[in-house]
Amino acid sequence: MASVEIIGLKKNFGAVEVIHGVDLKIEDGEFVALVGPSGCGKSTLLRIISGLEPASAGEIRIDGNLVNHLNPRERNIAMVFQNYALYPHMSVAKNMGFNLKLSGMDRSEIDRKVKEVAKLLELDALLDRKPGQLSGGQRQRVAMGRAIVRDPAAFLFDEPLSNLDAKLRDQMRSEIKLLHQRVKTTSIYVTHDQIEAMTLADRVVILNGGNIEQAGRPIDLYNKPENLFVAAFIGTPSMNLIEATIVKTDTGLAAKMACGHMVPVTANHPNITENEEVIIGMRPEHFSADTSGVLLSGQTTLVEPTGAQTNITFELGGKPATAVLEGGFNIEVGQPLTVSIDPKKVHFFDKATGRRV
Ligand SMILES: Nc1ncnc2c1ncn2[C@@H]1O[C@H](COP(=O)(O)OP(=O)(O)OP(=O)(O)O)[C@@H](O)[C@H]1O
Ligand SMILES: [Mg+2]
Repeated sequence: MASVEIIGLKKNFGAVEVIHGVDLKIEDGEFVALVGPSGCGKSTLLRIISGLEPASAGEIRIDGNLVNHLNPRERNIAMVFQNYALYPHMSVAKNMGFNLKLSGMDRSEIDRKVKEVAKLLELDALLDRKPGQLSGGQRQRVAMGRAIVRDPAAFLFDEPLSNLDAKLRDQMRSEIKLLHQRVKTTSIYVTHDQIEAMTLADRVVILNGGNIEQAGRPIDLYNKPENLFVAAFIGTPSMNLIEATIVKTDTGLAAKMACGHMVPVTANHPNITENEEVIIGMRPEHFSADTSGVLLSGQTTLVEPTGAQTNITFELGGKPATAVLEGGFNIEVGQPLTVSIDPKKVHFFDKATGRRV
């Protein structure tokens, strides 16, 4: 296990720069998820860390040691890809020990290591089976076991679950989290799925166009997105983002939307000033059907019950907004919906810069 540090990392392909100077330190034992839209540079960053791709500028350090000049094997990092690439004709034990055998380790030592790791991963009863006789989750554990026996400094995952159907994906996601709790190997996990990133990682790094937008604990990204990109990216359904102007009222400042609705600016936003053009952010799940907060209303245009909750689209600030209400909530398209929100849960962003204010 080791820390992994990236300093001032840049990458160009020909004349095109795709990573623009990324700084990131992953602590020993930490699980970090790199998340962002397609083409933002996630795989490229991972490939550079692993040594499959050279950096154009900057440093990669493993446990403080510069590794830019080392090839993938010398970096001792294990990549886990979408398909686990197990050898179908070999037993679980042979699959797990294969790399050790290639490196010339003697049989009894390989046996000992494989047994030790198999026990850790609860694979000890399956060592004589072939991959075809295993479930998807067990196969994944074998693939990780094969990496763990080599004592890698870190695991790198590139969208390992993206080919699976939804149910298996959820199951495997839990398996990976349980594994990390057990083995604590430093892990960097690339995904474009924010739920996967949030549920798995100690820290989530949001990449956009080759730059880091924000890095932090999942709950901090959710509660305090630094800019509009992060605000829109984290959370499902997405945060409602509505243009408003700051006006003065009898009771202080408020954000006024095009539809006339106003949301008071609470004391935790001391920098907001009158006449400022802002974007206000309200999470769909922060709306409620009671009347305890600020009341907002608009015409219902879509009702989507999922069982546990009902997602309702309604007109707000001249645009469709989403509210997530309780499962049994009853409303018809065309009826006005009235919801309330705690003003302390409203986010404010500067309209010009997109930054949180
Ligand atoms: N070998 C290459 N030659 C030229 N451009 C490349 C090469 N590899 C990647 N790129 C470009 O670099 C950018 C980042 O690509 P990368 O594969 O890292 O994205 P990603 O975030 O992993 O996307 P996805 O979610 O679709 O996998 C993209 O614009 C891509 O077109
Ligand atoms: Mg990719």
